[in-house]
Amino acid sequence: MRYIMIFIAIIASSLVAFSLFGPKFPPIGPLTPVPIPADNPQTQAKIDFGKQLYFDPRLSGNNKISCATCHLPSLGFSNGQPFAKGGPDLTDEGGRNTPTVYNTAYNKFQFWDGRAATLEEQALGPVQNPVEMHEDLNKLVAELSAIPEYVRQSKEIFGTEITSEVIAKAIAAFERTIISTNCSFDKYMKGDKTAMSESAIRGMKLFNKKARCIVCHNGPNFTDDKFHNLGLPSLDPNKPPDVGRYAVTKNEADMGAFKTPTLRSVVETAPYLRNGFMRTLMEVIEFYDQGGGRDPNKDKEMKRLNLTQQEKQDLEEFMKALTGEPLNITPPALP
Ligand code: HEC
Ligand code: HEC
Repeated sequence: MRYIMIFIAIIASSLVAFSLFGPKFPPIGPLTPVPIPADNPQTQAKIDFGKQLYFDPRLSGNNKISCATCHLPSLGFSNGQPFAKGGPDLTDEGGRNTPTVYNTAYNKFQFWDGRAATLEEQALGPVQNPVEMHEDLNKLVAELSAIPEYVRQSKEIFGTEITSEVIAKAIAAFERTIISTNCSFDKYMKGDKTAMSESAIRGMKLFNKKARCIVCHNGPNFTDDKFHNLGLPSLDPNKPPDVGRYAVTKNEADMGAFKTPTLRSVVETAPYLRNGFMRTLMEVIEFYDQGGGRDPNKDKEMKRLNLTQQEKQDLEEFMKALTGEPLNITPPALP
């Protein structure tokens, strides 16, 4: 009997603790070191090689599109457009917004639907995608193998002729240097209490509590690495809706769910959401305030927030405080 009483007491007190503090999410905070895969260690020579490939339009079928055409350093490594335009004449629309390359080194999944896991796996996707770079991999390897300076670098760094694996590994190594960090929020968290404005500090508290952003945008990179349906309406009623994560898992629960993006340097990457549906952060905040869209399958965590005008501004100020130090990446000379 005594044990039963103790047992009940433990259950009851943990229930009280749970309702007082709610479920715990990994806290937001300064970034941890960039994870580097064991089979692709970083070297300066490899990063430089990857940078040339990233900026080289010869990676595309028409030799006009490089990774930097859509992921521009000056536009937060996105392109300022609702949709990416690629393909043979730069007119084909992929229907999805170009995500930033910032901090993709931390991603558990790549692409809005998470269909690639690593940056190495991801890099060859856009090269072959008909609405992006539209290039045949065998042709690309042959084309780059005709550039002696590329062959020299490949042999020196990887000890082999150019292969698709060499291309992917070099680009991934460069991408691992595209890190948004040391923002006002990081400085504040490391003890500089003057680094954020009063409004941004209020915004941070709202982010963690009343506005419930922490439920999904959590951990040092402001993402749970999971997929959610925010109930966004489809942009063009004549086109079938984007099924998102469902295409990968075929699990009904993933219908219309997309990856939670990082919020670091988010002011630089407008327009927002997977379809570039919203032009400003304030529009996104208004959307969350209303509990998201009307899709009946939306995530149950999407709830009305009843934020005041001041609170919305505070949240926006907080997101501005997540803008990392400038990287000053400029296009390299190509061989
Ligand atoms: C025509 C525009 C375009 C080009 C060119 C392009 N991308 Fe992308 N990139 C996109 C779009 C759009 C997505 C999202 C596609 C999706 O989720 O289905 C994306 C996704 C990504 C992602 C995943 C980011 C994330 O958070 O999920 C990375 C990394 C990336 N691209 C790197 C590259 C690299 C490296 C190259 C060059 C080899 C490249 N991209 C070329 C438009 C482009
Ligand atoms: C239920 C999980 C969830 C919650 C809660 C949530 N987000 Fe998001 N957020 C996401 C997902 C998933 C996306 C991408 C969805 C899409 O495009 O379909 C996203 C996208 C965004 C974007 C666009 C980023 C970009 O690069 O396009 C911003 C900004 C944003 N969220 C801010 C917030 C703020 C501020 C809050 C709190 C008021 C919040 N989010 C609450 C999951 C969530």
